[in-house]
Amino acid sequence: MTKNLITAVIFDLDGVIVFTDKYHYKSWKMLADRMGWDFDETLNHRLRGIPRLASLQVILDHNGIEASDSEKAEYAGMKNDFYRKMLQEELNRADMYSGVMDFLDALRARNIRLALCSSSKNARAVLRKLRLEKYFQAVVSGNDIEHAKPDPQIFLAGACKLEVEPEQCLVFEDAQAGIEAASAAGMNVVGVGDPRSAPGADKYITDYECIDIDDMLRTGNV
Ligand code: G6P
Ligand code: MG
Repeated sequence: MTKNLITAVIFDLDGVIVFTDKYHYKSWKMLADRMGWDFDETLNHRLRGIPRLASLQVILDHNGIEASDSEKAEYAGMKNDFYRKMLQEELNRADMYSGVMDFLDALRARNIRLALCSSSKNARAVLRKLRLEKYFQAVVSGNDIEHAKPDPQIFLAGACKLEVEPEQCLVFEDAQAGIEAASAAGMNVVGVGDPRSAPGADKYITDYECIDIDDMLRTGNV
């Protein structure tokens, strides 16, 4: 039997395992409406993979608004309160990406080590709500890192926790910043979703059912 190139698979969370996009959108929109700011789906798309305060800055810049650090913390806190409420009251397994549960089960059955590396400070709360914690031997969230994607820090920390080398890892990412981060970490990377919205990966998938898992583990590609 030939040895697999890939011994660990690393997932981003938002837009890769679960469509939290709509909850991020709705909670930014609630803040924007309350503040009288302009905010729409196109602007929301630019926030993919971007940490909370940096996302707020995109919205403030778009509206030509200057705010102090304490005001920014307050606005970001308001958005997060809306978001946390939606996670508790609305998020459920129907929000997950098509085929991802079977994909996780199949990887687990093959003893592949799994990590979750998400810029979101709510990553653990999302995993808990979806009852997915048991799948991941390592979780690195926005709380654990200093440098956000496209810096490779979050993925290198994930590989380190799993005790594997970067070249043994395959990353699934939907955001351009994440694809750049994974490449900078020296990892194989698969884009999730539309290549036009997040360029830079060698290969893209739009659902997990189409993946030949054994071939993927052998070659590091899909
Ligand atoms: C992910 C999402 C972004 C979000 C960021 C921070 O990267 O793609 O849209 O802004 O996490 O999320 P948080 O839950 O910490 O506000
Ligand atoms: Mg994402």
